[in-house]
Amino acid sequence: MNAQRSLFVTTALPYANGPFHVGHIMEYIQADIWVRFQRMQGHRVHFVCADDAHGAPIMLKAHAEGLTPEALVANIAAGRKQYLDGFGIDFNHWHSTHSPENTALSQDIFRRLNAGGLIERKPVEQFYDPVKGMFLADRYIKGTCPKCHAKEQYGDACEVCGAVYAPIELIDPYSTLSGAAPIRKSSDHYFFRLSDPRCTAFLRSWLDKSERLQPQVANKAREWLSGTDEQKLGDWDISRDAPYFGIRIPDIAEEKYFYVWLDAPVGYLASLKNYFDRGKARAQGETRSFEEFLSAPNTEQVHFIGKDIIYFHTLFWPAMLHFAGTPYKVPDHVYVHGFITVSGEKMSKSRGTGISPLRYLELGLNPEWLRYYIAAKLNANVEDVDFNPDDFVARVNSDLVGKYVNIVSRVAGFLSKRFDGQLAPQGDAAGEALLQTLRAAREELASAYEAREFGKVVREVMRLADLTNQYADSARPWDLAKDPARADELHRACSTLTRAFEVLTRYLAPILPKLAAQAADILNVDFSRWEQATPLTQIKPYSHLTTRVDPKQMDALFALPTAADQGSGSAVKPKTKETPTMSTSPTDDVATAPTYASITDFQKLDLRIARITAASTVDGSDKLLKLTLDLGNETRTVFSGIQSAYQPEQLVGRLTVMIANLAPRKMRFGISEGMVLAASDDGPGVFLLSPDTGALPGMRVE
Ligand code: MSP
Ligand code: ZN
Repeated sequence: MNAQRSLFVTTALPYANGPFHVGHIMEYIQADIWVRFQRMQGHRVHFVCADDAHGAPIMLKAHAEGLTPEALVANIAAGRKQYLDGFGIDFNHWHSTHSPENTALSQDIFRRLNAGGLIERKPVEQFYDPVKGMFLADRYIKGTCPKCHAKEQYGDACEVCGAVYAPIELIDPYSTLSGAAPIRKSSDHYFFRLSDPRCTAFLRSWLDKSERLQPQVANKAREWLSGTDEQKLGDWDISRDAPYFGIRIPDIAEEKYFYVWLDAPVGYLASLKNYFDRGKARAQGETRSFEEFLSAPNTEQVHFIGKDIIYFHTLFWPAMLHFAGTPYKVPDHVYVHGFITVSGEKMSKSRGTGISPLRYLELGLNPEWLRYYIAAKLNANVEDVDFNPDDFVARVNSDLVGKYVNIVSRVAGFLSKRFDGQLAPQGDAAGEALLQTLRAAREELASAYEAREFGKVVREVMRLADLTNQYADSARPWDLAKDPARADELHRACSTLTRAFEVLTRYLAPILPKLAAQAADILNVDFSRWEQATPLTQIKPYSHLTTRVDPKQMDALFALPTAADQGSGSAVKPKTKETPTMSTSPTDDVATAPTYASITDFQKLDLRIARITAASTVDGSDKLLKLTLDLGNETRTVFSGIQSAYQPEQLVGRLTVMIANLAPRKMRFGISEGMVLAASDDGPGVFLLSPDTGALPGMRVE
């Protein structure tokens, strides 16, 4: 085996203003598979994460809910475990950026940068909301991007072209809190002097170290770094004035705080430090202190992140670490993934489609199906991953269950009943050749895992499963079993197939840890290492490893309350618990924070009177009704989750209110072109809205 690696692995720290969405879960699954593979190789991995607790959105959301930010963050943190356990995400430690460790480390890094002449204090004109009476955080100002002129961009970065800028540069700005045009006010800010030639020279060489970053990520960062003149990497404003929920800037009397993105990545180190200080690293066999471990030349620091936060992780973060000096060191790898979409659509809280991971678990869908499906679709590139319900059902049922699990489920019974669970020491010639082929794939699969080419792993394992099934089809154990004279042949064939299953299970163990644990128990083997340690000789009676997905379960996953919550079908509010949805960008956290809708927000909705001209149930759904809506000059089809409350024929001829400009949403049954409005509360009943007499189809509701 290669020398033991010493790895420090993180995933991005999720904002602590809402529960996990499926984008978070996808990132954790990716990192978790990689980490489990490294552990199987005998490497030591410290895999940590934390809540990203600071910043204006959390402060304002807490205020709106009548909570302290600490209480809001604590509530969110308390809900994390059920997701992580549910999806088998094996972090060693979970901490928070609102912690003594993070305060100490952030202030230490700041002081070192300051001592190195890389911090500058200067007055800046900032936007101030005259209605709310506070300086506006970047996220509460919207306007037109100064670089690409995309409309409706937030004050710190453009989601369309990726540019990062100061809010004051926005064209036609307005406050998203009050809708007011912000006024300019001056205040002193602290800047990290990224434009210092030392910084740019360092970053250039950091980016050039091959294999540190995926090529497309390094190229993007280089573009930002060298830009054109007006797009040059500017100095980075790292302070915010009170009121702010964050870490105080040290050594000054005034109440100023670090901008959340200064202390957020330091949270990686804070979590690691807390993990060391609590003795949890020692329990993993790590005898060094936090500082010793961090500064050791062989320690590898690896960050898994999504494509929206490349800028922070490939420019600001390495520069901060490098110029802070020992024991800090720059990341060895930043591995970037794309976004998860559902049926080809980008998800967001505001636009609303998505999968709720909690609902997935509550419905009893097997978490390993999702791990398998996501693995099958992931590669080392920064590509989006689409969750397509039909594809999901097909891959789980025909590949995972049909090709792989069936190998053992069809023969284990023969071994138990006829041979006391004993395996024959050797198979027939074809069987031994098959096992040799399967075992020969080990190195190639290890390289694919190392390179995060999980889709390739799954394809290769399925190819090997096909070979195994071909062997089964020619050995025909089910026929052999009918002829007592051929018991030896039966024994050998079943033994070979069980051994083949064992080899494939080891290959899939990082992706399917729970299934591998169950299989380990049945087969009396250990899947904690990539190399087989003890041979497979004796099995226990087989018990079910996993079932097939019932396509109805997919309907349930996409049905109410989630679908309604997410803006298709009908606007019935989710009944009891918060149903977390998908958010695709850091801007989405803002969607939950503002307490007021401005009149411009309201005017974005095109509400119309519609006549229901046809209504029918939907094959395969017990929640939805398909409605045909007459809007005066056009006709729309909408799937609405109101089947529990209405017979289709009751609805025909009725007038109601619909949102006519909702982005069309592809559902399993067809495209839903809007949403009808209905009322509900915690009790039973859903009540469709009706206009007063005299209203006509197509009229605008204002
Ligand atoms: N708090 C910051 C990260 C600080 S890291 C020092 C943040 N939080 S986040 O909650 O918005 O996002 C956390 C991670 O989830 C990021 O890596 C982000 O890219 C990822 N995802 C958010 N939406 C996603 C999808 N739709 N699909 C996949 N990952 C996505 O950013
Ligand atoms: Zn732009």
